[in-house]
Amino acid sequence: AQELPDILSQDFAADPYSAYRVLREQAPLVYHEATRSWLISRYEDVERAFRDPVFTSDNYDWQVEPVHGRTIVQMSGREHSVRRALVAPAFRGSTLESKFLPVIERNARDLIDRFRHTGRAELVSQFASHFPINVIVDMLGLDKSDHEKFHRWYTSVIEFLSNLAGDPEVAANGRRMHEEFSAYMIPIIRHRRENLGDDLLSTLCRAEIDGTQMSDEDIKSFCSLLLAAGGETTDKAIAAIFRNLLEHPDQLAAVRADRSLVARAFAETLRYTPPVHMIMRQTAADVELSGGVVPAGATVTCLIGAANRDGTRYDRPDEFDIFREDLSTTRAFSAAANHLSFALGRHFCVGALLAKAEVEVGVGQLLDAMPDVRLVEGFRAGERGVFTRGPAELWVEFTPVG
Ligand code: HEM
Repeated sequence: AQELPDILSQDFAADPYSAYRVLREQAPLVYHEATRSWLISRYEDVERAFRDPVFTSDNYDWQVEPVHGRTIVQMSGREHSVRRALVAPAFRGSTLESKFLPVIERNARDLIDRFRHTGRAELVSQFASHFPINVIVDMLGLDKSDHEKFHRWYTSVIEFLSNLAGDPEVAANGRRMHEEFSAYMIPIIRHRRENLGDDLLSTLCRAEIDGTQMSDEDIKSFCSLLLAAGGETTDKAIAAIFRNLLEHPDQLAAVRADRSLVARAFAETLRYTPPVHMIMRQTAADVELSGGVVPAGATVTCLIGAANRDGTRYDRPDEFDIFREDLSTTRAFSAAANHLSFALGRHFCVGALLAKAEVEVGVGQLLDAMPDVRLVEGFRAGERGVFTRGPAELWVEFTPVG
């Protein structure tokens, strides 16, 4: 038997991209015993899995349910579209611009003000891991002084979902944290129903589906999904874009001179170092892919980080280049995006434009606060995570201004 990389090995965690190349070239469809799933790694196959309805999200019933309850990621058809439509308006460009941009700007400024005079900062723990979660907590109209709790809950959700090897302690902790989250949220939801406001939680409380309001339980699950999906992903994206730019000083200089290039740098960061590396689907029938046939009823693991570096799709796939011509930026945040980091099709990330707004504001303010920012001498930025992945630490130094 050929020696293939194992997605649960230490070598893989240290450098998934070399392993992805081997999988794409030698085993584009391969069964992985430990996760009982079929790995797919080529761009055309992952794109197909996101777009073709023969690939369902039914597997999430058992994968996601214990830490969120039932949410739109598990649903399909009308059940999915009706619920997704409840939150989608809040994440449209025009609403974000008029209603939430000040919230995003304030949250970025509050964090940067704490270190802008110091000349040295670790941007993962001092900025990226707080900024997106604080924004969603504000959008939902929840209490930011409970930040530590939200952070702990969504971290345990991601640990649960990343627990590919099935560690029972991690699984038990995920369930326990979800019970804690429910106990916290349900009384808040009941109170909000009587005190409706202009926030996203009030929108969910007001919403009617076929003449019936959503249950407390359904609303709690929606909030759980929004906190985890919007917190853990965007924090990694912000750390990664900043790291990628710091490692490519000429591209950093270009972005500093022309801030409209942040959109390009973000799209290329999502392609080159995506926050979410693995998304699961289930096959409703036998499906023929470029690498072979997946049987009906199988779980498929879509390796986004591998597909995004497929040499048949991208020129110089292992190079970070914000000016590359094969990356559409006008469409990079629509359902026609040509990187796969927000998925595609009906589950395409509902928060993509919020993530983009957060990154544009966050990177813009960081560059303004640190005109000569550079990586701390001798610091090498490593990455952490297999299911979701991002810089573990990002030490920078700069001359404080004003
Ligand atoms: C869905 C990635 C930011 C909310 C998804 C999916 C991916 C993804 C890959 C598809 C999941 C699947 O099909 O199984 C990302 C990345 C982000 C990001 C890389 C940051 C760079 C956000 C933000 C929010 C958000 C800021 C807002 C709170 C959601 C929701 C879904 C989703 C609610 C489920 C959509 C559905 O099932 O119809 N995201 N996301 N995401 N994302 Fe994001």
